[in-house]
Amino acid sequence: MAVKITPEYIDLLNGAVEREIQVSLQYLLQHAKIEKLMRKKLPENILLDKTTYDAVGKFLREIGIMEMKHAASIMERIYYLGGQATTMAKKPVIGGSLSEFARLGVVAEEEALVLYRQILEATIENGDYETRELFEKIYGEEEGHLFKFQEYVHMQDESQEETGKLSEWRKVFTDDYFALLNKAVASEIMAIIQYTNQHEKAAYLKLRGRETPLEVVTDNNKAKAVSELLKPIFMQEMDHLEKISERIYLLEGEAVVMPDPLPKVGDTPDDFLALDHAAENDAILLYRKIIEEAMKRGDTITRRMFEDIVMQEEQHYWTFDDYVR
Ligand SMILES: [Fe+2]
Ligand SMILES: [Fe+2]
Ligand SMILES: [Fe+2]
Ligand SMILES: [Fe+2]
Repeated sequence: MAVKITPEYIDLLNGAVEREIQVSLQYLLQHAKIEKLMRKKLPENILLDKTTYDAVGKFLREIGIMEMKHAASIMERIYYLGGQATTMAKKPVIGGSLSEFARLGVVAEEEALVLYRQILEATIENGDYETRELFEKIYGEEEGHLFKFQEYVHMQDESQEETGKLSEWRKVFTDDYFALLNKAVASEIMAIIQYTNQHEKAAYLKLRGRETPLEVVTDNNKAKAVSELLKPIFMQEMDHLEKISERIYLLEGEAVVMPDPLPKVGDTPDDFLALDHAAENDAILLYRKIIEEAMKRGDTITRRMFEDIVMQEEQHYWTFDDYVR
C-alpha cells in the first residue's frame, strides 16, 4: 500500500474525531442554553439583545452540526484506512454567557488548528494525500469559526446570576429530578455518537462487501440500507438533545456532557442493528419513567416534550426492529 498506516497515525486521526465530537456537543448545548440567557435580560435591553442572541444562537447551531459532519468525515476516512473510529469525546465546556461561549469557542478552535496542522504534516510523511485534502478543507472551516468567535468575544457580558430564594413553583425541580432528566441527555449523546460512527462504518462496509453475487443482494445491501437509515435518525437525536438540554437550562439546571452508556459500534450491520434496537428500547423505558415523574411533579411542559420524543424513539425502535428479525 502506498499510504503508510500506523496505529499512531490512526490515533492521531482519532484525536481529531474526539475534538470534533466535543465541539459539536459544546456548541449544540450552548445553543440550547441561549433561550435561558435571553430570559434573564433586563426588559429595556430585550430588543437589542434579542438580535444578538438570535445571531449567536443561529451560528452555534450551524457550526454544531458542521462539527458533527467533520467528525463523520474523519471517521469515514479512518474506516477506509482500515482503522476503528473512536466513540470517545473530549469533555465539552459550556459556560454561562455569550461572551464565555465565545471565549471557549476561541480556545477550542485554536486547539483544533494546532492539532490539524500536526495532522497535515503527518499526512505528508505517510503519503496520505486523500486525508490531507480532507483536513485542508476542515482546517479552513475551523479558521472561519475562530474568526467568528473572536468577533463575539468583544461583546458585552451581561450574564447576571439570579439571587434570592427559589419561588414556590420551582421547588419540584430538585437535584434528583435534574439527575433523571440528565440521564436522557446522556442517552441522547450516546445515540448521536453511536449512530454517527456506525453510519460511517456501514458506508465503508458497503464498499468492501462486494464479493459474491449473493453478498451483493444480501450483506452489501444491508450495509447500504443501514448506513442510509441511520442518518435521519441521528439528526433526530440531535434535535432531542437540544430540546431536553434547553429545558434543563431554562429550569436553572446544568446539562451533562458525556454519553451514558458508552457508545458501542459493533462489527457488522447486524451488530449495529441489534445494538441500536437495544439502545432505543432503553431510551423508551427511561423516557416513560421521566414522563411518569414529570406527571407526578406537575411539570407539564417536560412531560409533553418527552411524550413527543418517546413517539420518535418508538419509530426508531420499529425501524431497527424491521431489520433485526
Ligand atoms: Fe470541526
Ligand atoms: Fe470548528
Ligand atoms: Fe432520542
Ligand atoms: Fe432514538
